Amino acid sequence: APANRVFSGVQPTGNLHLGNYLGAIRHFVNLQDTHECVYCVVDMHAITVWQDPAELAANTREVAAAYIAAGIDAEKHIIFNQSKVSAHAELTWILNCVARIGWLNRMTQFKEKAGKHRENASVGLYTYPVLMAADILAYRATHVPVGDDQKQHLELARDIAQKFNNDFLGEGEVFFPQPEPLIMGPATRVMSLRDGSKKMSKSDASDMARITLTDTADDIAKKIKKAKTDPEPLPENVEGLKERPEADNLVGIYAALAGMDKAAVIAEFGGKGFGTFKPALAELAAEKLAPLTGEMARLKADPAYLDSVLEKGAERARAMTEPVMAEVRRIVGF
Ligand code: ADP
Ligand code: NA
Repeated sequence: APANRVFSGVQPTGNLHLGNYLGAIRHFVNLQDTHECVYCVVDMHAITVWQDPAELAANTREVAAAYIAAGIDAEKHIIFNQSKVSAHAELTWILNCVARIGWLNRMTQFKEKAGKHRENASVGLYTYPVLMAADILAYRATHVPVGDDQKQHLELARDIAQKFNNDFLGEGEVFFPQPEPLIMGPATRVMSLRDGSKKMSKSDASDMARITLTDTADDIAKKIKKAKTDPEPLPENVEGLKERPEADNLVGIYAALAGMDKAAVIAEFGGKGFGTFKPALAELAAEKLAPLTGEMARLKADPAYLDSVLEKGAERARAMTEPVMAEVRRIVGF
């Protein structure tokens, strides 16, 4: 098994946002010198909730464009979309038979996403974490950079790996390594700009709740200006951010974008009001996101290039997963 292989993915469900960038994509970029990286556009995850087919294809290219624009080297590492590599579906079925219903019943994201109409959610939404486990294990990946929101799913992937090893192999033998989470730095959970108790997400009904990777500097300024806050000035020390989720979120975003910690942001802005802090944050966000937004737009204008990157990546991903699947089939008795 590889020593330092990273697997992670982003769903092509549109509205790529600052949370996806700060919580995931920028870390993907930073791992390239030290790890062998496999970065997936998880279109099979996306369809757990209905997607318009034409939009799905466009959104798949958009995530690929975001990866490349952020600085992922598609020659050295792998960028591809999930549906093009059949190991994901095949291994999911086998792992569906390893995972326990009780384990899936504990997944909080299913409860959140299915909402009140749980009986009417797709079976795919329910078994989504098993697909995520298969994504990781098909590569025998050792490390998974994900936002804090995916921590429970990664723990499930670890449990599934362990149960597979226990069920099929001799005492102490390991086929699937237990993947380790890589959760890094501030802003691993970026919250909605309209509600400090909800994470920033692609599916929020309000456009004002998220900063997207296609927003202009004006869009960003408008959204940050309108962001919900309390009326107090920023506290004089970081402890003062406790119980102030909106202030804490904006300070966390500033910190992540500036490459500072929250204490350093408070050292600069403590005691100042949002009338001062928000314009500074908007300016910083616009400055940091502009190169990414510009490069994404340039790449999206060349869909044939993006398709060729995805196709080459899929070819290499198939070459990686095929030997693993051959072993899995043998282990299971197929
Ligand atoms: P979303 O949850 O927006 O639909 P995905 O499920 O495609 O996005 O997640 C892609 C990556 O972005 C995952 O690693 C996830 O942990 C991260 N991520 C998503 N939302 C946030 C957020 N609000 N803050 C930090 N990271 C996030
Ligand atoms: Na998510």
